[in-house]
Amino acid sequence: MNAPAVPGLPGATSNNMGGARSRRSEFPVSLQFLDRWSPRAFTDEPISEPDLMGILEAARWAPSNSNAQPWRFAYSMRGDTFWPQYLGLLNDNNRRWADKAAALVVILSSRFIVAPNGEASVSRTHSFDAGCAWGYLALQAHLSGWAAHCMAGFDMERTRGALGVPPAFVVEAIVAVGRQGTIDKLPLNLRARELPSQRRPLQDSVSAGRFRGT
Ligand SMILES: Cc1cc2nc3c(=O)[nH]c(=O)nc-3n(C[C@H](O)[C@H](O)[C@H](O)COP(=O)(O)O)c2cc1C
Repeated sequence: MNAPAVPGLPGATSNNMGGARSRRSEFPVSLQFLDRWSPRAFTDEPISEPDLMGILEAARWAPSNSNAQPWRFAYSMRGDTFWPQYLGLLNDNNRRWADKAAALVVILSSRFIVAPNGEASVSRTHSFDAGCAWGYLALQAHLSGWAAHCMAGFDMERTRGALGVPPAFVVEAIVAVGRQGTIDKLPLNLRARELPSQRRPLQDSVSAGRFRGT
């Protein structure tokens, strides 16, 4: 697959922190897609509730099957009474860096689509829809000068118990939101990984016609 020649846009190049100009797109895209990444080094700057709501607001506008909006968010901000409990849900590797985040946001999704007449049907796409909301959240955090780092490394059942999550909801992920810090904020063993990651070539993910993925 050859990228088309677009004058002045030869495939975007990012200048994201921690890996200046390390990401380059094969085709022209908005720089927000290259510049967003998931750092682990956070300053311990707190986030205001309106700033956090602004990030969740973007997630609210994600598309979803039947506009069911199955995503739900539960959050704690560092220093509030829930913070130790939220932090305690993470596995050791994640807790080691996420303790400097400004907020932890648990993303949940509803297994059911409820029609306007109150009739509930099982959703086939609740996690897919919630994943899209996470993507919007992450991009808005980046555009607002914050960073968001998604985590699957937490205890799902303990989260369910600690937050009182009913069986109709799936606990999808926990997201750390914070102000990106310098690498010296990180434990030594995490510093080498503090770089924007790369992606496999587009053609390895795309099939024209019959699926030929591996
Ligand atoms: C659903 C999901 C779960 C993830 N779980 C973790 C995790 O537990 N710990 C962690 O450090 N990073 C986690 N990540 C971050 C990914 O490793 C990261 O997004 C990926 O390497 C791509 O890098 P980038 O986000 O910097 O572009 C997770 C990301 C997603 C989307």
